[in-house]
Amino acid sequence: MPSWTTDPSDDCFVELPHTAVELPLDYFDETSYQREFTYQKRLNWSEEFEGKEVGLVFDGSMANTRVFLDGVQIGGHKDGYTPFEIRLTPHLKPTGNLITVCVDGAENPEIPPFGGQIDYLTYAGIYREVWLKVTDRVSIKNVKIETKGVLETNKSVRLNCFLSNPDDLALNGTLKAEIFDANSDSVAAQVIEIADSESAIEFPELANIQLWALDRPYLYEVRLSLRSDQGIDQIRQKFGFRTAEFTADGFRLNGEKLKLIGLNRHQSFPYSGYAQGPASQERDADILKYELACNIVRTSHYPQSNAFLDRCDEIGLLVLEEIPGWQHIGGDAWKEESVQNVRRMIERDWNHPSIILWGVRINESDDDDAFYLRTNTLAHQLDPTRQTSGIRKHAGSSLLEDVYTMNDFVLGEFELPHENRPRSPLRSPSEVTGLPQKTPYLVTEYNGHMFPTKVTDQEQRQIEHVTRHLEVLNAAHGDDNIAGCIGWCMFDYNTHKDFGSGDRICHHGVLTIFREPKFAAYAYASQGSPENRVVLQPVTYWARGERNIGGTLPLMILSNCDFIRLNFPNGASFDLLPDHQTFAHLPHPPFMLRQDDLSGSEVGQWGMLWTDIKIVGYVDNNPIVTRRLLANPIATRLEVKSDRPTLSQARNEVRISVKALDQAGNLLPYIDLPITIEVDGPATLIGPDTTALRGGATAFWIRSKRESGDVVVRVRSTRFATGEARVSVSNS
Ligand code: GAL
Repeated sequence: MPSWTTDPSDDCFVELPHTAVELPLDYFDETSYQREFTYQKRLNWSEEFEGKEVGLVFDGSMANTRVFLDGVQIGGHKDGYTPFEIRLTPHLKPTGNLITVCVDGAENPEIPPFGGQIDYLTYAGIYREVWLKVTDRVSIKNVKIETKGVLETNKSVRLNCFLSNPDDLALNGTLKAEIFDANSDSVAAQVIEIADSESAIEFPELANIQLWALDRPYLYEVRLSLRSDQGIDQIRQKFGFRTAEFTADGFRLNGEKLKLIGLNRHQSFPYSGYAQGPASQERDADILKYELACNIVRTSHYPQSNAFLDRCDEIGLLVLEEIPGWQHIGGDAWKEESVQNVRRMIERDWNHPSIILWGVRINESDDDDAFYLRTNTLAHQLDPTRQTSGIRKHAGSSLLEDVYTMNDFVLGEFELPHENRPRSPLRSPSEVTGLPQKTPYLVTEYNGHMFPTKVTDQEQRQIEHVTRHLEVLNAAHGDDNIAGCIGWCMFDYNTHKDFGSGDRICHHGVLTIFREPKFAAYAYASQGSPENRVVLQPVTYWARGERNIGGTLPLMILSNCDFIRLNFPNGASFDLLPDHQTFAHLPHPPFMLRQDDLSGSEVGQWGMLWTDIKIVGYVDNNPIVTRRLLANPIATRLEVKSDRPTLSQARNEVRISVKALDQAGNLLPYIDLPITIEVDGPATLIGPDTTALRGGATAFWIRSKRESGDVVVRVRSTRFATGEARVSVSNS
């Protein structure tokens, strides 16, 4: 059963993933989903259930889920972020079974992350998939794949296999394990006799094994087959060979030093909350890796979907995953639940090569040594191959974990322009830890609420936003004792009234809530190699009167080109080199054009004729990118673009972006234009069909129905010809 459906002709028919209350974009009442919701499905008896184990597997349901069969509670799960299975076997009747699922969106103080205030929303609903699982009486429950000797010529693998045997049946049989490479060619195979629910299979001395690396994330697959007198089963599990180690002098992947640069990600979307499927999750990973040139993401502040983590494995994006929580630690029952969350997170995710660090503290909570000794010890017991961390905001915290991870907001304490700031933008690790010895150290947040910046904010503020991100990146690159830095945050997100700008949005992202870039996005993007993506982004709208007093100087251009040529219509041109002096440690410092560079020139002076500028970026002396900024931008066209041309049939989403552009294709940042959206074909629109551009752009998601065909999306406005995007929904 791929998903949870009732009769589609029923008024109350819903499909998964599902959000119990679709919220407006902003200024909503977040208590509207903080109550109980009920889902029901009739499960008819099927012959295939005879003599089998039948269960319902929930990938994620928010929160405190209770499951009833014909009115009798048969199971439940409090945590909203981890999967759980409800055993149906002893309860199923041949006459038909009514399954009722109650999810309680209330912020129950007995359950992490609740009990205090939290700066994000926990949207109620069965927001991930639910699966009907039918197996023999004994089946394979899980496998933990541990690699050893990864940097040696011959490597080894140990599989720890766990069977599910709910009735504790006596068991005789075999387990076959076979490892396949990325071409599905067999690498090694073994068969062992089993009589127990736990067994280990060792593969020593594997030759010609490829490493999992960021530029080549090579994945292997284990296929495990059970043959026993109590049943047969098979599972497949991907894994990779890599080492990941934090030491006092930084981080190493496969023995090579790597500065970790990344952003924090919430798993939320506008309108639908948490309820978006695999394609939307995967796309966020792709944005981080390919558009923002990040090499790490923190799943703030909870375990995120399998689809997101699988994609991180596939594309080579490292992950810091942490247990649910935000500043508050509850009572004993709460803590017990939190310890169980460590177990659930690690047992779900221990085979992802992308995960390099477990976060086993409640984000930014006070020290509680007894509690955190438990979470840390459990993490090490379950997974001796990975280091642990716990994210703090205070200095001098007791270090129980392997890596001191710190949210360092010190830069926000200074209003002065960055040339005059009295201190470095990051604290030194020793200043924070207060320890006599050096320790592994990673910065897990900075900026965020210290400098919220809306996409519609004035250019000067945007430049400062960019600068603050660059400053921290520069400082992290410049200190060998800092393994890296993970900024707050990837995109703006909906939140409680106690945070954000009153509109229920924290405008902390380098992207908008719709995943459209602010200028700060290019602070990250421009640090990537031009071989992957050439970036040339002037941090300006190129208008005479946008800044205080007027003009566009100093002009900052974010780029990974070697040098940049500015051409003015009067024939004047200026060549610029990256500003290595101010940002000595950045791989690609910004380019700065200052008033002094232009002495005697009319450029930027108030009252003079305002003119165009052409900016050309050069790599290896070749002009490879050109931007023309216009003195007289005129609203010219509405660009409507789908993130991908195709969608697979089953409830998959794709983002469609809408941008108002001038004659040269530049964004028109202040066109507050209403638009209406029309979707024709086998897909539905998520969110309202009438909305407005913000900062010259917006985006929305469409979700495919269970039919194939062509989808045409039309966006109408009063200013432009109708914009159109096409997506074909296939059967694959
Ligand atoms: C941190 C917190 C984040 C977010 C951020 C805003 O203290 O961990 O969840 O609230 O502040 O800057």
